[in-house]
Amino acid sequence: MTNGENQKTGSKKQANKQKKSTTEPLSNCPFHDSANNVNADDNTRPLESGIHQDFNDEMSYGDYLRLEQVLSAQQPLTSEHDEMLFIIIHQTSELWLKLAGHELQSAIGFIQAENFGPAFKVIARVKQIFMQLTQSWNILATLTPSDYLKFRDDLGRSSGFQSCGYRKLEFLLGNKNAAMLNVHQANSSAYQELSNLLRKNSLYDEVIIALTKAGFPIDNTLLQRDVSQAYQRNDSVLDAWLSVYRKPEQYFELYELAEKLVDIEDAFQQWRFKHMYTVQRIIGYKKGTGGSSGVGFLKKALDISFFPELFEVRTHL
Ligand code: HEM
Repeated sequence: MTNGENQKTGSKKQANKQKKSTTEPLSNCPFHDSANNVNADDNTRPLESGIHQDFNDEMSYGDYLRLEQVLSAQQPLTSEHDEMLFIIIHQTSELWLKLAGHELQSAIGFIQAENFGPAFKVIARVKQIFMQLTQSWNILATLTPSDYLKFRDDLGRSSGFQSCGYRKLEFLLGNKNAAMLNVHQANSSAYQELSNLLRKNSLYDEVIIALTKAGFPIDNTLLQRDVSQAYQRNDSVLDAWLSVYRKPEQYFELYELAEKLVDIEDAFQQWRFKHMYTVQRIIGYKKGTGGSSGVGFLKKALDISFFPELFEVRTHL
C-alpha cells in the first residue's frame, strides 16, 4: 500500500467514525445491514468472500441460459436504430407464447385427470403471461410510422401470422382452423406440431368432458365431433354452465374453472385488441407484410370466442 493510499484509508476510517455517530439510528433500520459491507463512502458494494468467481470448470448463469445463443439471435437486416426494438419485441413475445403453450398443455392434462387445483394455478399463470404480452405493445407503440417504414420493406413477406407459437395457443384454446397450417408447409417440424394439436382435444373440449363427468347431459354429437374443426356454441353446454352459475356453492370447482377460462379469454382478447390497435397506429390501413388486408383482418379475430357459452351464460342469469 502506498503512503497516499494509507492516508486515504486513514481519512476514510476517521470519516466513518464521524459518520457513525451521526448515522447511529440507521443500525436499527431493518433495511440497513451493517454486516453486509455496503460501503457508504464510495457508494460501492464489495464482493463478499463467498461469491463464486471462477467458472472455468463450473456452469455459469450464461451457460445455463444459453445466453450466447439467445443474445446473438438479434440480427438486424438494416442499420436502422429501431429495428433492434422490432426484433426484440417479437423474440420476447415468442418466448412468452412458448411458456403460455407449455402451461396450457399442462392445464389440459390436469383437467383430463380432474385435478382442478393445479389446473387453476397454471391457468392463472397463462393469464399473467398475456397481461405481460399486452403491456409490451406500449413499448412497440414508441415506434413511429416513419421509423418503421425505414426497414419495413426489408421484412419481405414475413409476418406474425406465420408464428407457430401463436397458432399453437389458438389451437390449444380451441380456435381450430386447418387452413392456418398452410403457411407452415416449409417448416416440417412446425407443420407437424400444429397438425398434431389440430387433431387433439383443446382445453375447452376437456372442460366439456369434465362437465359430463360431473353429471351434466352434454349432446353426444358434440362429444363425438371432429375436434379439428372450429368449436361452435352448443345449447347443452350453455345449460350446464347455467346450472353451475345458478348454484356456485354446489359446483364450486366448475364455477371457479369457468371464471378462470373467462380470465384467459379476457386477457387474450386484450392482446388481440392492442395488437390490432398498435398496428393501426403504425401502418394505418396498409396491407400486412403477410399479405392480409391488415387491420381489417386483425379486427375479425376479435369476434372469435374460445368459450362462447361462458359469455352467453351471463345474459341468461
Ligand atoms: C410494427 C409492428 C407490427 C405490425 C405492423 C404488425 C402487423 C400485423 C398484420 C398486418 C398482421 C396480419 C397478417 C399480415 O398480413 O401480415 C399481423 C398478424 C400477426 N402478428 Fe403482427 N404486427 C406487428 C407486431 C407484432 C408483434 C410484436 C407480434 C408478437 C408476436 C405480432 C404477432 C402477430 C401474430 C401472432 C399475428 C397473427 C394474428 C392472427 O392470426 O389473428 N405482431 N401483424
